[in-house]
Amino acid sequence: MQQSIRPRRNRRNPAIRSMIKETSLSPADFIYPLFLHAGEANEDIASMPGCKRWSLPGLVQEAREAHDLGIPAVVLFPAIDESLKTQGAEECYNPVGLIPEAIRLLKHEIPTLQVVTDVALDPYNSEGHDGLVVENAQGELEILNDETIEVLCKQAVCQADAGADIVAPSDMMDGRVGALREALDNAGHEKVAIMSYTAKYASAYYGPFRGALDSAPKAGDKKTYQMEPANSREALRELALDEAEGADYVMVKPAGAYLDIISLLRDHTALPVAAYQVSGEYLMIKAGAKDGWINEKAVVIESLLGIKRAGADIILSYFAKDVATWYHDRSL
Ligand code: PBG
Repeated sequence: MQQSIRPRRNRRNPAIRSMIKETSLSPADFIYPLFLHAGEANEDIASMPGCKRWSLPGLVQEAREAHDLGIPAVVLFPAIDESLKTQGAEECYNPVGLIPEAIRLLKHEIPTLQVVTDVALDPYNSEGHDGLVVENAQGELEILNDETIEVLCKQAVCQADAGADIVAPSDMMDGRVGALREALDNAGHEKVAIMSYTAKYASAYYGPFRGALDSAPKAGDKKTYQMEPANSREALRELALDEAEGADYVMVKPAGAYLDIISLLRDHTALPVAAYQVSGEYLMIKAGAKDGWINEKAVVIESLLGIKRAGADIILSYFAKDVATWYHDRSL
């Protein structure tokens, strides 16, 4: 047989392979999620080996190291003291609360670092839900939509007042992007951008994160607001709304099990698409690598290349700093 067409010619050696590589990772692709708490020490997070709940000084140091490696942005998640959690989640708009203090400190110490903040009530709400919770006449828990949005607006304006560059609503209430845009503009924050969690699924992959913040719902689940994992068309509906309401970025979350959704959004919007490689995705790689069953670095790179190849412009990943380090030592 005469074989004239040979795809392997394009894989012959590292030089050729590097020339035809379609997708690559660089530190500028990443937003680095960081946990913080009010304590003086940095604490290990049992559910997320390798991640910490940072003290404020620890947070600044970690963010500085990441930014020095070329990572443009961090996103902050607070572990709030149980005594500050209430049904109304009032602590989320306390101007001298943990998050506003952290934003001011980061923007003062590292002015070019972009600070992204999470807009949702779960770390502050005694019920552990992203919205306000009431019991309806049938005795079922209900997550209030419009009442929650009023609180989210106060939270986002409070974060913007402290210096946040991008607010990222992860709550999945209907209409929150439009309401946040209006509230930010009315407060003089027209430069503050909105990164919407557009297609956020009701996912079991968030388990380790809820351990990190002790923010699991006290009762019920998040299925009345987060999306059904079996669905993709709903993501287009959420996208249309977020675009109409003025989102500056759209996000898919989780990433690895939703690569088709990343690709779908990429094909249907001119906005930047972000994807969140969440805590469960992180933990599975860490756990698999712990006893040497998989090669951690190789799997991290492959998982992130897959997310980028699917169409993500920006990746939120707990591995961001590792990747930036490999990029600089030319081992990526
Ligand atoms: C809650 C929020 C969650 C995550 C980010 N923001 C958890 C949830 O919706 O229950 C998950 C991130 C991760 O798992 O890494 N507003």
